[in-house]
Amino acid sequence: MTTQLSFDVQLNPRARSAGEREEVLANPGFGQFFTDHMISIDWTEGRGWHDARLQPYGPLVLDPATSVFHYAQELFEGLKAYRQSGGSIVAFRPHANAARFNRSAARMAMPELPEDAFVQSLELLVQTDREWVPTTDGHSLYLRPFMIATQAALGVNHPSRTYKYMVIASPAASYFSGGVKPVSVWLSTEFTRAAPGGTGFAKCGGNYAAAFVAQRQAVQEGCDQVVWLDAFEHRWVEEMGGMNLFFVFGDRLVTPTLTGTLLPGITRDSILSIAAELGLRPEEGKISIEDWQSACESGELTEVFACGTAAVVTPVGSVKGADRGWAVGDGTPGPVTMRIREELVGIQYGSRPDTRDWIHKI
Ligand code: PLP
Ligand code: COI
Repeated sequence: MTTQLSFDVQLNPRARSAGEREEVLANPGFGQFFTDHMISIDWTEGRGWHDARLQPYGPLVLDPATSVFHYAQELFEGLKAYRQSGGSIVAFRPHANAARFNRSAARMAMPELPEDAFVQSLELLVQTDREWVPTTDGHSLYLRPFMIATQAALGVNHPSRTYKYMVIASPAASYFSGGVKPVSVWLSTEFTRAAPGGTGFAKCGGNYAAAFVAQRQAVQEGCDQVVWLDAFEHRWVEEMGGMNLFFVFGDRLVTPTLTGTLLPGITRDSILSIAAELGLRPEEGKISIEDWQSACESGELTEVFACGTAAVVTPVGSVKGADRGWAVGDGTPGPVTMRIREELVGIQYGSRPDTRDWIHKI
């Protein structure tokens, strides 16, 4: 069944000029600048989704008692629109984001949005703001769909009875300012991101709110990023703050199994799928920090990389924990990491064939 919504379109009379836009696109950074429009769709108990609209980008007015401010009933997604060499604009696997959005919604007791309506909302925003999709190599338009609980009430006996779904878009250069440079990581043994039965697999804001303290600790320890470990033993590797992890043992490519406590990354899933074509043997498994250290020291583990929509594929160069520290490889991006990165980016920008129907034309 297809579920298309009818959108009310209100164009922005104060949309920026071509010159103003070019100034932003010359140096967009990540997540700092936003396009001229946004999507908003409301949901009310008993009525469902209504008031779908495209409107000028701008602030929201919300009652201070609005549920999201107090109980963080919120979730989001992240994906990118790319300008391919022939000029067409595409999104990468938007239906996978739609499906994950709905899995997050089910966990957060929030309404699901039909996948077609999710994808339609992205198409409308990107079509309207298509001049904001960067032409610079490696740049893209980052799309941020999200949903908040909007009922103004402080009781916690039931979830909110009203919600707002929105999409905003932000031109993006690389997430890490150093480009494809290995990052250093901090093993978080003091803090826990997620435990069984919790919200680790959902892309909800609360997971990130609880993570900032560990990310700050990582920076204080001289590292770029935090690595999350399991909640019980603080030994088993799970993921990073906004990325999944892969370990390269010769031609074996291992990533932590989806246990419910880590985010099922769409980049992770894509890499598992393309690895065999690159002559690698992909596996999901359990990796302890002791194994990580000893396999690096013995030379058996040659490369580790992080992956995600924002971070693409980023090598990990060194690891530090409260009582240990070691180097991964020789401190330069490894050949397997770079081959996977090139293949993935090639599919996204159209220089490699899309044999899996991942590319969605907009
Ligand atoms: N893990 C976390 C905690 C994330 O925030 C992200 C980013 O979305 C990922 C992993 C990677 O997911 P994806 O590849 O779908 O972007
Ligand atoms: C993404 O890669 O889409 C993320 O969500 C990472 C981070 C900016 C939260």
